[in-house]
Amino acid sequence: MSAPSYNPDTTDIDRIHSAVKREKDDVAAGQGPAPMWIMFIGMVVAIVAGGQLGPMAGGFSFETSNPFALAKAIDTRPGGGGEGAAMDPFQLAMKKGASAYGVCMGCHQAAGTGVPGTFPPLAGSDWVHGGTERIIRVVLNGLAGPLTINGAPFSNPAGMPAQGALSNKDIAAVITYIRNSWGNEGTMVTEEMVAAIRKKEAARTTQWTMAELEPFAKQNAPGEIPAGPGATAAPAAEAAAPTK
Ligand code: HEC
Repeated sequence: MSAPSYNPDTTDIDRIHSAVKREKDDVAAGQGPAPMWIMFIGMVVAIVAGGQLGPMAGGFSFETSNPFALAKAIDTRPGGGGEGAAMDPFQLAMKKGASAYGVCMGCHQAAGTGVPGTFPPLAGSDWVHGGTERIIRVVLNGLAGPLTINGAPFSNPAGMPAQGALSNKDIAAVITYIRNSWGNEGTMVTEEMVAAIRKKEAARTTQWTMAELEPFAKQNAPGEIPAGPGATAAPAAEAAAPTK
């Protein structure tokens, strides 16, 4: 049998070589490559065995090699499981309140100074360090002025918009924060106090007026204050300094 004659124009190189490509050498019994599933099981065994041998031989521990476990161990945020978790409720509220204050800051300013004529100051305001019920009402439903704070008149056509979209916890924290910042001193406001007022005024959809809130000026919202620095008026200056 003669080999097919080669013609550069009509002979297909691929066709000539296809038999060579297709046919592999016979594999001797027991010599073939291991199937994929065997390699996979081998890997699993190696990983599990490594995890067992490590603690026996080299002091390896998943506690310290696991990046999530490590982050948790050094998480100092309040409630983060680290040292911050040991904070008393007042310090915790001050920390949470300082960040929640971002909502109010655009109008009342970072140092609680407000803006003359339009946004009243929170620093030194008897609305802030007075009874707790009036200020909870202001934050929950907003306030329509005009009003006089620290002897200066403020009138804002839009008034203060209701901040009731914030959680009771955030409102409690932010009020505790402003009552104890910039020279203000006041008792702590708790989540339960905010919840009580929110429930009482659930039907209210409009801003409060000055006159409506006058009876609550010296009244405190019902609820226990946890023992600790927030139970009495806290020393303001140090507590007020934001942490960053
Ligand atoms: C969009 C601007 C704006 C935002 C945001 C805002 N306020 Fe006000 N706030 C006002 C205005 C304006 C008044 C005065 C009402 C008026 O002039 O009609 C006021 C009044 C107050 C008062 C009573 C007056 C005083 O100065 O003591 C308190 C307390 C207060 N706001 C707290 C807060 C807190 C706490 C937040 C955040 C949770 C907040 N406000 C968010 C605009 C704002």
